[in-house]
Amino acid sequence: MHHYKSCRFDSLNIFFMERQKLISRNTFFRMVTGLILGLIVWVWYRLSGFQTERESRMEFRHGNDIPMGISYFEKYYLIRTENSVRAFSTTCTHAGCRIGKGNGNLLQCSCHGSRFDAETGKPLKGPAIKPLQEFECQFDEKNGQWVVRLQEKILKTT
Ligand code: FES
Repeated sequence: MHHYKSCRFDSLNIFFMERQKLISRNTFFRMVTGLILGLIVWVWYRLSGFQTERESRMEFRHGNDIPMGISYFEKYYLIRTENSVRAFSTTCTHAGCRIGKGNGNLLQCSCHGSRFDAETGKPLKGPAIKPLQEFECQFDEKNGQWVVRLQEKILKTT
């Protein structure tokens, strides 16, 4: 009888030990998974940062025959008036959707309906409150081309 009891006790003990081992193994796997996930997020963050940096150094060239009004490209649009050519981002300043061509000088975001004045990039209707980002757009005399750089235009104060 006594022997039987101790045997039961031993098997119970082994059961708990096994359980403990299982828990610690689970904890270990959880930690490894956490580490791997953390690593993936970190790599993604670094890569996307790198992508943005590379993108901001990208430049696009256009001949001097840019038509009057809006010329729409994927990441930006050009607007030519009598005395200027300006480039603005097509990313809506509300939540980042791509804004589409509208009527005349009006651009419309199909996500939540914001409208922008294409000539100035200013919002005419919310929910967007910030103007569209203006990109650097300069005429390169040497090549007779307009150069658009996907980086924020540095506003000169002088
Ligand atoms: S993302 Fe354009 S209106 Fe919301």
